[in-house]
Amino acid sequence: MCGIVGYTGFQDAYDIVINGLRRLEYRGYDSAGIVLEGPDNKLEVEKTKGKVDDLVNISKDLKGKFNIGMGHTRWATHGVPSDRNSHPHLSNNGKIAIVHNGIIENYDTIKTMLTEKGYTFKSETDTEVLVNLIQYFMELNPEIDFPTAVRYALNEVYGAYAITVLHEDYPGVLVVGRLGSPLAIGIGDKEYFIASDASPFVEFTKEAIYLEEGHMATISLENGVDIRTINDNSKIEPEIQQLKLSLEQIEKGGYEHFMLKEIFEQPKSIHDTMRGRLLVEEGVIKMAGIWDHVERFKNANRIIIIACGTSWHAGLIGEYLIEEYARIPVEVEYASEFRYRNPIITDKDVVIAISQSGETADTMAALKLAKEKGAFIYGICNVVDSSIARITDAGSYTHAGPEIGVASTKAFTAQLTILTLIAFKLGKHNGNLGNADFMSLIAELDAIPKRVEEVLSSTHEQIQQIAKDFVSTSNFLYLGRGYNYPAALEGALKLKEISYIHAEGYPAAEMKHGPIALIDENMPIVIIAPKKGHYDKIVSNVQEIKARKGKIIAVVNKGDRQVSEMADYVIEIPETSECFSPIVASVPLQLLAYYIAVYRGANVDQPRNLAKSVTVE
Ligand code: M6R
Repeated sequence: MCGIVGYTGFQDAYDIVINGLRRLEYRGYDSAGIVLEGPDNKLEVEKTKGKVDDLVNISKDLKGKFNIGMGHTRWATHGVPSDRNSHPHLSNNGKIAIVHNGIIENYDTIKTMLTEKGYTFKSETDTEVLVNLIQYFMELNPEIDFPTAVRYALNEVYGAYAITVLHEDYPGVLVVGRLGSPLAIGIGDKEYFIASDASPFVEFTKEAIYLEEGHMATISLENGVDIRTINDNSKIEPEIQQLKLSLEQIEKGGYEHFMLKEIFEQPKSIHDTMRGRLLVEEGVIKMAGIWDHVERFKNANRIIIIACGTSWHAGLIGEYLIEEYARIPVEVEYASEFRYRNPIITDKDVVIAISQSGETADTMAALKLAKEKGAFIYGICNVVDSSIARITDAGSYTHAGPEIGVASTKAFTAQLTILTLIAFKLGKHNGNLGNADFMSLIAELDAIPKRVEEVLSSTHEQIQQIAKDFVSTSNFLYLGRGYNYPAALEGALKLKEISYIHAEGYPAAEMKHGPIALIDENMPIVIIAPKKGHYDKIVSNVQEIKARKGKIIAVVNKGDRQVSEMADYVIEIPETSECFSPIVASVPLQLLAYYIAVYRGANVDQPRNLAKSVTVE
């Protein structure tokens, strides 16, 4: 959601900023802009509604002339996507430029105050208020410098932000700040980069500082990086990290879309999630995060899983896993609902927060609430050092590698893998999972990457054919039972996110309580029907659909007969224990959503209105 890129150094700032914005496109946006500072110290601004390509069309004359600048991709919150609302925004005196991610919640009060003092506003954004507040403080206190004015302004606002600011009278100086929205500073040789994540600068440097919450930095070639706390200006020693990210990981590598690449990466990403944790020959699961706090889990009244979207679906499967194997009661909550319903939380509760990005505002707010009430917080995040990962008491990274397609695929199966490991580990420890069953389950888990590879190679072409028949469909129903009910929800979410076809997921047995009314010869129904998992009951559900002439796309185990005979389309997956079937069954559903969307001409990696990390509530 929104992206920031900044640069100062010896290279062409225009190229660095534009290419950096392209690397951040995955975050989701609807407008883009750039500001560059010339040798005469004047600020050159170009911005537009639309994509980075549209920005390039109006700004290419700026190429090759500047060594310092910054850019932004905006995902509209305050004000529609438009040229005027795009960032950068300038102060009334035209000297200060800002780009901003996040929301200034008290912007209206500040705007009223500034308006009374004669300030005018060209846009509807909260960001333009902030840049004028900086100008206001500089005029009010002529003795203070530009970074101090930024600090004063940031102390007056509340909400969430990552900002980068330039001032004509302070040539060569970039001021950045962060609260609730990530910002990284890349340290090169005689150059500095700023970005919402490291992807825009990983090809130039492997050294980065991740700005901490409530910190700001003044960056210049002359004085390097000076980090201060926003509230009291205390100096902070920078902690330089070595980036593990590689360029290859954030490029498409010959695939048409990141989403397809990420679907095909799953055998590896699931394996990477288990690497060093699942030691089959030794018969152990090593997870320091769990082991160090195993008594907290063992003595927990209950586990509450909080998450949003796809991560919430993973949480539902986590509930099945943990209750079945560890026999600890689990509740799964949408983070956004949990936070606002005055939940009962005690210090006997363990909260697991699941988030691919580790930046989701709703999940962050919910876990802060749980923390305040004394619960133990365990994080499952994909992005290393993300905000959620930093504030949890303990946790496990999924290690799925960067996920760039907005529709989550490999992060989901990695989350399921971690939850499986947790359930087995806790079950073994508290005696609910006997040694023989444990050994057989972990051996099967170890082979899951292979099973996923089989599914990819056996279904890829077939699904392309099936997808062609559903390009013009308006509705889809996804059904599953037990572990595969959340898998059905996830299949439906994937389809609607990227193809814009209305799709609903339901527990198969619930169909007769309502959705059955929708079924006729035009309604495609994807039904997940593996052998292990209430198969007989599913057969009855399929019969009910057949009797109403629904079009059945069945995901079944190899050699299946009963469901396959009734289905219009049959997708075969290998047989596994029921607890692993959502991982294996999700793969063809991801491919189905992907190809339907591609054939409809949709922008698969950047679907309309969606953002990769949802950093606003
Ligand atoms: O980064 P998170 O896992 O916290 O994100 C949660 C949801 O926003 C996310 O899963 C969303 O539903 C995806 N677009 C799903 O494909």
